[in-house]
Order: sequence, then C-alpha cells, then structure tokens
Amino acid sequence: MSRILIIDDDIASCKTLSLHLQSQGHEVYYEHDVEAGGQVAVEVKPQLLILDIRLPGQSGLEALPALKKSLPNTHIIMITAHHDMASTIKAMQDGAEDYIHKPIDIHELDEAIARILDDTREQSRKLTVNNSKYDKSEMVGQSSQMRTIFKTIGLVAGSPATVLITGESGTGKELVARAVHNNSAHADGPFVVINCAALVETLLESDMFGHEKGAFTGAIARQPGKFSLANNGTIFLDEIGELSIGMQAKLLRVLQNKEFTPLGGKKALTTNARIIAATNVNLPERVAEGRFREDLYYRLQVVSIHIPPLRERMEDIDLLIQTLLARVNKELHKHVDRIHNDVLDVFHRYPWHGNVRQLENVLLKAVALSSTNTISMALLPAELAATFAVAGTDALATGSDDANAPLNSLHHMEKHHVLRVLDAVDWHKGHACEILKVSRPRLRRLIKEHHLAPASADLPGAVDDFVEAD
Ligand SMILES: Nc1ncnc2c1ncn2[C@@H]1O[C@H](COP(=O)(O)OP(=O)(O)OP(=O)(O)O)[C@@H](O)[C@H]1O
Ligand SMILES: [Mg+2]
Repeated sequence: MSRILIIDDDIASCKTLSLHLQSQGHEVYYEHDVEAGGQVAVEVKPQLLILDIRLPGQSGLEALPALKKSLPNTHIIMITAHHDMASTIKAMQDGAEDYIHKPIDIHELDEAIARILDDTREQSRKLTVNNSKYDKSEMVGQSSQMRTIFKTIGLVAGSPATVLITGESGTGKELVARAVHNNSAHADGPFVVINCAALVETLLESDMFGHEKGAFTGAIARQPGKFSLANNGTIFLDEIGELSIGMQAKLLRVLQNKEFTPLGGKKALTTNARIIAATNVNLPERVAEGRFREDLYYRLQVVSIHIPPLRERMEDIDLLIQTLLARVNKELHKHVDRIHNDVLDVFHRYPWHGNVRQLENVLLKAVALSSTNTISMALLPAELAATFAVAGTDALATGSDDANAPLNSLHHMEKHHVLRVLDAVDWHKGHACEILKVSRPRLRRLIKEHHLAPASADLPGAVDDFVEAD
C-alpha cells in the first residue's frame, strides 16, 4: 500500500478522501496549503500527491514545477473545480500524471490511482535505456540471422559488388544499405536514394540520369541526375521491383557498362557509384511472370542479403525495444524507461507484420502520450492490446490443444512451458532439467533468453541482464 498526501484547502473534502483512501489500506496525510504540504512531503516522501489547484497563497499549479523537482519519484494527480483547458495542459506539461475535476467522482479517482500506482515497481520492468544510443544509423540485433547479416555486410562492404537487399516492409533494408555504404571505400562519398516506385517514368528517368534543357515541358535548365550526384558514393535503388520494363533496360546498361544518357542528351555519361538495390517483393516470381528482366535480376543480386521478418527473430526484440526507446526518448525529449510486464508480454507475442518500423511507431506513440516514465497497456493501439486479451496466459501455459486456442510461435510456447515447469518445481533447476530433458546450461540460456524470473522473491532466481535491479 502507498503513502498518499492530499493538499486541498477544503477540509471536508480532505477528510472524506482520507477516509476512503485509508479504507483501501493507504497511509494518508493531508494539509491545506502548499507551504505546510511541502514540508510534510519532504518528511514522508509520498508515492502519490493529490494536489488541489486553487489554494490560499501559492496555487497548486504554481507550486507544481517545484514540487515535481523536489519529489521526483512522487506521482501527482491534480484536482480542480474549474474546467479549464489551459490549466489542464499546463499541469500535464509540468509533470502531473492525471487531472480530476471536482466534485470528485470516487471511481474516477480510484481508477487513476490504480493506474498510476500499478504502473510502478512490481508490475513493470526498468530497461537499460542508454540514451547515448540514439543514432539513427545504429543497427542492432543479437539473433543468429542478424549476426550473419552483420558478417555479410563486413565481407561485402569493401568490394564494389552490387548488393540486393530483400525483406518485408520495415525490416531495416535501408539501414543495411547505409551500413554497407558507411563501411565501404565510398563512405566519404554521398549516399543517394532513388525510390523506383514513387515517380512517373519520365520523372524517374530524369531523377536518375538527369536531363538537358528543353528535354521535356518544364525542363527549363540542364539538371544532373542522381547517378551523377552519386559519383564516388553509393546509389540506393529502393523498391526496385516496381521499376518499369523500359527503365529496367536503361538500368541494365548502367550495370553492364557504367554508362547512361541524360534525357534529351546525346552523349553518354559514366558513373562509378556503388549500386545497392532493395525490394520487398519476390523478384524471382516477377521474373517468372515476365514483369522483371532476368538478366537485370542476376546483375543486381551479385550479393544478396535477406532480412527475415521480426517475428522470425524474436530474440532481437528486447534489444530493439531498448535501442528504439532511447531514440524515441531523445526525439521527444522524454525519459520513459519502464515497460509494464503485460506490455512486454504483448511485445513478445505480437506478430509484428510491420516489423521494426511498426515497433518503432508503437513506441513513438506510447512515449508521446505517456505522462509517467512507464509504458502501460492503455498506451498501446487497440490491435496490440487485443493480442493480450485473446491469448490468456493460462490457456497457453497448459499447452491447450483446443482448436480455438491462438496460434502462437514456438518461441512463445517455449517461454510459457519453461516458466510453467520452473514454477511447478519451485524453481529447483535440477528438477526442471529432468522434466524438460535439457542440460543445466541450456536451462540457464532459456531462462536468460526468455527473461524468466520467479514470481516470489525468495526463490532461487534467474540472473537477468535485461532487467536492471533497482
Ligand atoms: N536492426 C535494427 N536496429 C535498429 N533500428 C532498426 C533496425 N531495423 C530497422 N530499424 C529501424 O526501423 C525503421 C525501418 O527501417 P528501414 O527504413 O531501414 O526499413 P525498410 O526495410 O527499408 O522498410 P520499407 O520496406 O518500408 O522501406 C527505421 O527507423 C530503422 O531505423
Ligand atoms: Mg525502405
């Protein structure tokens, strides 16, 4: 239960609230102005402060920034008789976590308290969010698939070979392309992106190869194309699968002879740009359908790098959460470094059709809307929250073969099964190994990989380097 301090000049309201909160087992203090309240706050360090706005002397709103500063770990709920947007906005900006109107609806207050206090400690995990790791080009991954990709990048970066990067949308294709460039002999040169899907053919051709004055209506001056701009650097042909047959022929010429002709030009120009292409479509299929030139396909994929979807390398998700959260915090000037256990559970189970980009967007929205340092379920989009509602842990833990049971990944089932066995034997590792028919080191790895921990603190726990004990 928590220590709660109320600062409200209405004596009757303080007494009623105090009785209600005490009946729920909280330790409650109250004062009637900021000065007296501030002194009590310093002495008792409440977990929660309920602060009225209109007070004799300094108002609650005026006192909020200083109170927040001197009590950084105290959650603050504002209460007021006024329905005024400006003070609500100001209070939320100054660090209040909720805002409740008078007359106080006790259910509304209970809900706010439950939400705020629930989000803390026991039910959430503190992440090691290294805020210096916000670099946009930082690519992380610890799965065997990602480690292989990092090795391949290392092997091919130095050679001029053309690279084809494939993978679903949002898997990090552009990031891989930039990594190849940054580690190549062309690293000091430009990295120029051409989106092959974005433009109509003439514009795309002029974008790639440039045009002479008067080459088409509106071409009022000579303009160099991206293949010229990318000289001594890298050209990244994004969504190459969308290239028209006509443009495919022109691109093939660049790949074969390093030559191209600007629109309306007579003389061929040359380029020494390193070419990297990416696509989220199945190119061999397009070749079979006659929509993509086979010779171009073979020219492009001298080296090919396939990035598997996130759901096939869920070992990466914790690292990604940490890295992306640091990035998002930096962008939004926030310090969100805790994630509610239920949210982590959803993150571990959700199939992430939009891959890393979707994870980044979910974190971005949650952090933007969070009023505390914790991401709670309420901050998740409905689609993700539904994952939690549908897949109840109990049905999963029993390994139910009910035809209606959700179809989960092996990774997910493994996690719940190992946890179930460990709990059943009170975390006796030897017994758990016998039942699971695995070696001790394997069990240790499973515990670490799935971030398992005993529910009760006095059982022999699991060392977990993802969670920072505090
Ligand atoms: N392994 C990773 N580590 C850190 N950030 C990543 C990683 N993979 C992807 N991201 C981030 O996810 C977002 C999407 O990545 P990127 O734009 O490279 O994907 P893409 O495959 O090119 O997507 P699309 O097909 O939609 O163009 C970016 O913000 C990128 O920084
Ligand atoms: Mg992309």
